[in-house]
Amino acid sequence: MMNESTMKAPIKVTIANEVVELSAHAREEIDELLSHFPADQKKSALLGALNVVQHENNGFLTEGIMIAVAEYLDLAKIEVYEVASFYSMYELKPVARNNVAICTNICCMLMGSQTIVDHVEKKLNIKIGESTEDGRIYLKKEEECLAACAGGPMMQVNHVYYEKLTPEMVDEILDGLE
Ligand code: FES
Repeated sequence: MMNESTMKAPIKVTIANEVVELSAHAREEIDELLSHFPADQKKSALLGALNVVQHENNGFLTEGIMIAVAEYLDLAKIEVYEVASFYSMYELKPVARNNVAICTNICCMLMGSQTIVDHVEKKLNIKIGESTEDGRIYLKKEEECLAACAGGPMMQVNHVYYEKLTPEMVDEILDGLE
């Protein structure tokens, strides 16, 4: 692990009145990721780096944060935008603090995921892709298969999988979110 004196210096990015500087913790985490790859392959740490900075920024990425990551990893800005806009785990706009993703791919669909989606949309009074007004729950856009097909219908809440869902189970899970 690197300490603050050995890690790359902070980079300050100012864009449209947004001043961004990667935190010491973020730089430490990114440096740890970089240590797993050859020095000329910094792009290999990009997915992990975006995870780190998104987590620190309440679950979403801003343009300034992406530019700061690009500069820290010596990448072109477009390389970071391409990755951040391609993968569904990155959010490019503010979202509520709990990330709820209901799998609607084929296996889960055959096992009743639409019933779960309809129930959740009605319960929260939002549509897929929206956040509740109280900032509590973000109903993430339709996901690709989350690799728990035998447990369908299923959903991911933050980093936890819930399987073989019923509307009653969903109520209990969502009601328990802070
Ligand atoms: S289709 Fe839902 S987890 Fe695979």
